[in-house]
Amino acid sequence: MKILVTAGPTREHIDPVRFLSNPSTGKMGFSIAAVAQQAGHDVTLVTGPVFLRTPVGVNRIDVVSAREMQSRVIEQFPNFDVLVMTAAVADWRPQNKSSTKLKKGEMSDTLKLVRNPDILKSVKKLNDVFAGEAKYRKFVVGFAAETGAPVEEAARKCKEKGLDFVVGNDVTEKGCGFGTNTNKVVFVFPDGNVKQFPLLSKISVARKILEEITNQLAKNAKNGKIKL
Ligand code: CTP
Repeated sequence: MKILVTAGPTREHIDPVRFLSNPSTGKMGFSIAAVAQQAGHDVTLVTGPVFLRTPVGVNRIDVVSAREMQSRVIEQFPNFDVLVMTAAVADWRPQNKSSTKLKKGEMSDTLKLVRNPDILKSVKKLNDVFAGEAKYRKFVVGFAAETGAPVEEAARKCKEKGLDFVVGNDVTEKGCGFGTNTNKVVFVFPDGNVKQFPLLSKISVARKILEEITNQLAKNAKNGKIKL
C-alpha cells in the first residue's frame, strides 16, 4: 500500500524568531511510518519541525505551518491509498506575520489570531470527489489527543471529518501524551464501536494501527468495496 503519514507540530510564525506551536515531538507519526515501511509499504511522511531521524526507506517532506502541511497533504493525497493524520496541527495563526524581527516597542500586548484550515476536512472533500469517480474512498485515520472524554471526542471527530477510525487518547493519563515513549489509546469507529488498548510502547501502538488498517482494507476488498 501507499501510505501517507503526517507527524509533529506545526509552527505559526509571528516573526522570524517567534512562533505559536504545541509540544508534539512527532514520535507517534514517525513510529507509524517506520512500522509501515518495515512491513513493506511505500511510505511518505509529511512532518512539522521535529528532532527525529527519518526512518530508513521513508520519503520525508518537511513543512513548518499548518497551511504548508495542508498544501503538501492535498498535493500528495491523490497518489496514496491511506492517510494517517497524526500531526498536531495548530488551529490558529497570527493574523499578521512580520518578515523581520519585531522589536518590543513595535509589538502590541494583544496578538490577533485567525483560524487555520482543518486539513482533514479539506481531505474529506477531496475524498468525496475521488469516491464519486472511483466508487470507493481512500482510507483515512485521524487522531484525537484530549484532556478527558477521549471516546466521546474521538467519536465526534470521526463523524465530523468522515474518518475510517480515530485513535483517541487522554494526554493527562500517566505514560500518555506529548514526548512519551508509551501511549494508551482507544480506536473509535464510525458505527460507534470502540477498541481499548492498555499502555503500550508507541511502536506497539503503531503496529496496532497498521494491523487495523490492513484488516479493514482486506475486509473492504473481500466485500468488493475496493480492488487491492
Ligand atoms: N487536524 C487537521 N487540521 C487541523 C486540526 C486538526 O487535520 N487544523 C487533524 C489532526 O491531525 C487530528 C484530528 O484532526 O488527526 C483531530 O485534531 P484535534 O486537534 O484533536 O481536533 P480539532 O479538530 O482541532 O478539534 P478540537 O479543537 O475541537 O479538539
